Amino acid sequence: MSSVKPIQDYAQLSDAEAEARIVAAKEKLGERLVILGHHYQREEVFRHADFSGDSLKLSREAANSKAEYIVFCGVHFMAEVADILSRDDQIAILPDMGAGCSMADMANLANVERAWRELSEVLDPDESITPVTYINSAADLKAFCGRHGGIVCTSTNARHVLQWSFGQREKVLFFPDQHLGRNTGYNMGIPLEQMVVWDFDQPLGGLTPEQIKNAKMILWKGFCSVHQMFKPEHIDAFKAKYPEAKIISHPESPFEVCQKSDYVGSTEYIINTIRDAEPGTRWLVATELNLVNRLAEQFRGEDKMVHFMSPTVCMCSTMFRIDPQHLAWVLENLVEGHVVNRIKVAPEEAAQAKLALERMLQVSP
Ligand code: 13P
Ligand code: SF4
Repeated sequence: MSSVKPIQDYAQLSDAEAEARIVAAKEKLGERLVILGHHYQREEVFRHADFSGDSLKLSREAANSKAEYIVFCGVHFMAEVADILSRDDQIAILPDMGAGCSMADMANLANVERAWRELSEVLDPDESITPVTYINSAADLKAFCGRHGGIVCTSTNARHVLQWSFGQREKVLFFPDQHLGRNTGYNMGIPLEQMVVWDFDQPLGGLTPEQIKNAKMILWKGFCSVHQMFKPEHIDAFKAKYPEAKIISHPESPFEVCQKSDYVGSTEYIINTIRDAEPGTRWLVATELNLVNRLAEQFRGEDKMVHFMSPTVCMCSTMFRIDPQHLAWVLENLVEGHVVNRIKVAPEEAAQAKLALERMLQVSP
C-alpha cells in the first residue's frame, strides 16, 4: 500500500497544476466525496465545491449528505459541525488545520463555565438563563449549551433561536459575538440598556448584580475582526457620492453599521438579495472581501454595481488558508485510501453538541 503523501510535495504546485489534480481526484472519488464550500472561500477553491452556502445551509448539507468523505472548504467549527451532524461512518476533513475563526477563539469552555459560576452568585442560571452559542464556536461550547438547555444559532436563524430561548427562560447568555446578539435582540424590540456586555477578563463580567438582574441579554465581549472594520462613516461617504445606493450588511457588523443599512442578513441572504434586485442598482456591502468580489464579478453583466464597504482590505485570513494545494493534497490522499486532516469530535461532546444543534435545526425557518 502507498504511504501518505506529505503536504510539502504540494507546496510548490502552481494553482493550475493543483486545479487539474483536484479535478482528476474528484473524478476518481465520485459519489464517495462531497466538497462543501463556504461563500468566503477564494475563487480557486470555491469553484470545486459541490455545494456552497452559509453556515446554516452547509450544516444541513452535511446532515443530509450520503458521501463517505465530507471535505469542508471553510473553517474549523464548520467541519466540526459536519462531523457532529453526519453519520458515524462518514469522515469530515478540513484541508488546512490552521483554518480557524478568530471570533470563535474569543470564547472558550473555561471562560464560559466561569461566567456561569459567577452568574450563579446573582441568580440561578439554569433556571433563568438560556445559553445561546453562535455556530462560530468550538464544539465544547455547543456541548455546554446542550447540557444547559441551550441552543446554537447562525446569522440566518438568530431571531428564531432567540424567540425559542426566551420561551424557555427569561434571559439569554449569548456568545461569542456581541454584534449578532445585539443586532438581533434590538430588532426584536429589546432596548440597548437591557443588553449588557460580559467582559470575560473581569470579575462578574465587569457588571454589577443589579445590571445582571435587569438585563434580558448578556452579550459576550467577542467580535469578528473582519466585520468590525466596517464603520458608519464608510456608509455616509458612499451615500454622499451615490445617494440612491442600497446598503447591505452581515449582522456581525457593528450596531451603528447595521442601523444605517437597508438590509441585514447572512451571506446567503446578501447573495439572494442582490441577485433578486433590479438591474441598474448599486450596492455597498459589509461582508468579507472574497464574497463581495465574487458578487461584483457575477452581477456586472446584469448592470448591478457591487462595492466593498471598507477602504482597507478585510479578508478572512483563516478562510484564505484553504488553498488549491491543500485541497489537492487531501483529495489525492483519499484516492490512495489515506485520510489526512480528519476532524473528529469526541463522542460524548458530540452527543451534547448535537442536542443544541438539533434544537437549532428544529426552530430554523
Ligand atoms: P454565514 O453563516 O452568514 O455564512 O456567516 C459565517 C461567518 O463566519 C461570517 O463571518
Ligand atoms: Fe470567523 Fe470572522 Fe472569518 Fe467569519 S469572517 S470565519 S467570523 S473570523
